[in-house]
Amino acid sequence: MRLLRKQGHDVRVVMTAAACEFVAPLTFQALSGHAVHSELLDAGQEQAMSHIHLARWADVLLIAPATADMLAKMAHGLADDLLSTLYLAAECPVVVAPAMNQAMWAKAVTQDNIRRLHQHGVRFIGPAAGAQACGEQGLGRMEEPVEICRLLLAQQIPGMLSGVKVVISAGPTREPLDPVRYITNRSSGKMGYALAQAAVAGGAEVVLVSGPVNLSPPVGLAFIQVETALQMYDATLTHCRDADVYIGAAAVADYRPQHIVAHKIKKDGDIASILLEKNPDIIAAVAGLQPKPLVVGFAAETDDLENYAKHKLQAKNLDMIAANWVGKAEGGFESDSNALQVFWPGGQQTLAMTDKHTLATQLLYLIAEKLHEKNPVKNS
Ligand code: PMT
Repeated sequence: MRLLRKQGHDVRVVMTAAACEFVAPLTFQALSGHAVHSELLDAGQEQAMSHIHLARWADVLLIAPATADMLAKMAHGLADDLLSTLYLAAECPVVVAPAMNQAMWAKAVTQDNIRRLHQHGVRFIGPAAGAQACGEQGLGRMEEPVEICRLLLAQQIPGMLSGVKVVISAGPTREPLDPVRYITNRSSGKMGYALAQAAVAGGAEVVLVSGPVNLSPPVGLAFIQVETALQMYDATLTHCRDADVYIGAAAVADYRPQHIVAHKIKKDGDIASILLEKNPDIIAAVAGLQPKPLVVGFAAETDDLENYAKHKLQAKNLDMIAANWVGKAEGGFESDSNALQVFWPGGQQTLAMTDKHTLATQLLYLIAEKLHEKNPVKNS
């Protein structure tokens, strides 16, 4: 609250009963310069500013720290205190900075609630990983206030991608061997779909080109389902001709079987090897278009992440590359969370381990900045 006030923002504080056990409301009254709101049915406070008035007054509702209980209430529309009622009444963007024990964060029901809230448009900042108040280590501690403040203000840029066409490729490709078998990889599409959802939230016109995954496409975008790398190549190139940004989050098969056998290959046959041929490099082809969109690649690495990523940035003529570790316990393929090391010519930034939706928003913010540098008039 101090940091937001310092930057000239007017802050009103709502405290739950549990919050009042930790900090006296008087402290926040003194710091904010306004009465603190804590009772849903307090006649005095209701007259001064009811939950409806508070909801209409705010440009953004930030819940920090947001407990597992509060996220559950929000996900299911429960409104039994002032804060949860305020959330239901709010029409402004809602941002949460979760804080809880790592096992509570990882619990399937909490993750379901988080997914639901993402679908309802709630934005997440953090949680961060590290030592927790309970003495355990892991993902769940509240993001640092200075980081919350920075990301909160970044997310408030109205329609940071409005008027911008973004093409995103996601998921794996499947390269058939015969009518029943194919070569593929572990990509679930979660990273690419989170980017697509965040780009829609940022006001962009979004085209999502997706390999076969078990996810429902986010609402508000054009969706193109493909299977093979060649199909992904055609769809992506077609839509990138008038795009402002292309993000290659898909795990494209580098090779495909040279021949697709028309009938099911029998085990009593004598096939001892499969001949492969190279697939075209989709992102390199997009980077060769004239005019060229801002091209953002991903690099999935099992070792020497920085060197391989920097090499791909240069070799594929990309504007930015987001490198992630794969094959580790957390992050990369299939996982709900990820961390990125982002490189561009002359700069880099680390985006710490968090859920893929939050990470997607953070990456899009960096992309919006780059787009603005490239084309200050269109995106001012
Ligand atoms: O889908 P999830 O389970 O959420 O996992 C996310 C992810 C790990 C798949 C994602 O974060 C990621 O790293 N995607 C890129 C995976 C990859 O193929 O990386 P690469 O280092 O092999 O390729 C580098 C870049 O070239 C990528 O942008 C890739 O899309 C692109 N490429 C690769 C080969 C090819 N023929 N055409 C391409 O465009």
